[in-house]
Amino acid sequence: MTKRSAKLSVDGKAVIELPIHEGSLGYDVIDIGRLGGNGLFTYDPGFSSTAACQSDITYIDGENGVLLHRGYPIEVLAEKSDYLEVCYLLFEGNLPTADQKVDFERTIRYHTMVNRSIELFISGFRYDAHPMAMLCGLVGAMSSFYHDSLDITDQQQRTISAHRLIAKMPTMAAMCHKHYIGQPYVYPDNSLSYAENFLHMMFGTPCEEYEVHPALTKAMDRIFLLHADHEQNASTSTVRLAGSSGANPFACIAAGIAALWGPAHGGANEAVLNMLNEIGDEKNIPKYLKRAKDKQDPFRLMGFGHRVYKNHDPRATVMRESCDEVLSVLGLENDPLFKLAKKLEQIALEDDYFVEKKLYPNVDFYSGIILKAIGIPVEMFTVIFATGRTVGWISHWNEMISNPYRIGRPRQLYTGAKTREFPEV
Ligand code: CMC
Repeated sequence: MTKRSAKLSVDGKAVIELPIHEGSLGYDVIDIGRLGGNGLFTYDPGFSSTAACQSDITYIDGENGVLLHRGYPIEVLAEKSDYLEVCYLLFEGNLPTADQKVDFERTIRYHTMVNRSIELFISGFRYDAHPMAMLCGLVGAMSSFYHDSLDITDQQQRTISAHRLIAKMPTMAAMCHKHYIGQPYVYPDNSLSYAENFLHMMFGTPCEEYEVHPALTKAMDRIFLLHADHEQNASTSTVRLAGSSGANPFACIAAGIAALWGPAHGGANEAVLNMLNEIGDEKNIPKYLKRAKDKQDPFRLMGFGHRVYKNHDPRATVMRESCDEVLSVLGLENDPLFKLAKKLEQIALEDDYFVEKKLYPNVDFYSGIILKAIGIPVEMFTVIFATGRTVGWISHWNEMISNPYRIGRPRQLYTGAKTREFPEV
């Protein structure tokens, strides 16, 4: 914090002196908290210029394509670390020591199983319920199972809830898939790693073990890792806002899952595959590029562009590597759908409109392709994003609750009718 300030002048009069706070990296912020009493609010729909909180967890420099978790660049974490280590880093603030890592992994394993009533709860969903709808309901319902960790004023209970969420998300995600395809649930196998276990529960059956290819396990772990956190995006902000009312962690994460579902956010990886299927053939690419540029047409090239990254998405660079590796391991380089994806990537990267507007493929362009290649059905893509992002959501929620906070209550610019007389009949 510094003594710098900004003066706001309205109609030529200085209204108020506003303090400027300095972060450790990135933009400074003008503190407008005191403005309300002067008869003015600020107006920033879409929050393009508004910092809604202070946070130590993740830093993004969108102009230069930088993403740091607790100070560590995402490329370094993807190379040298793994998803569970990044979970520890995000939640606890530092990388674990060797002993802490072993301990943390053991704790997460210990919590992988879900209460048997969760199975019964899923059975109530229609056979073709979208897995995101089921997951949202299941996570909300966790508050009715784990009463012993709902006291949000107790750090130990907050930590137990975080561990339960991180551990049980893959189990519940896979259960949603099994319900959707009408197969029996496969229980977690705690001898497997986090990513291996997820693939085992997704693709194994009670009759047959599923052999997990190490390259696919690595790609799956990377997908979780690269989605682990992304600062104050729509779903994380939703979790914070829900949490600011004192709601329990499971309810808050369910709110985050709902916000993630939309195609402009976590639903993009599913939308990428739907779009590729719709384009169908390389010869149709120009027609779709034309539509993407047409302001009158709502069509957008899914998996391209980002609110914050205006250079490149550093997660996409890493994900692209994994994408090439998975396609090669599975011998799918010549599969028509993946060839179409590569062609679209190449053409869009060279197209003036996309180059000028700095619309690069984002992480979900490549994660969608990898998931499809692994054999994961498209309706599970956003569920997998939610599974990886759970640690980010719970870390932000915990950070907020651990510090002084107020209920979030945005204001508005009212443009409706002035007071009206009720018509006499
Ligand atoms: N296809 C065509 N035009 C686009 C696209 C696109 N995918 N993305 C942005 N534009 C245009 C947009 O119309 C605007 O044009 P103009 O300046 O002429 O009005 C310009 O580029 C700037 O975009 P914007 O509207 O300011 O971008 P935004 O910050 O509002 O939206 C976005 C960001 C991610 C919602 C958007 O780029 C988009 O819809 N992309 C496709 C969906 C997608 O892939 N989402 C996943 C994001 S990564 C995962 C995550 O973090 O959730």
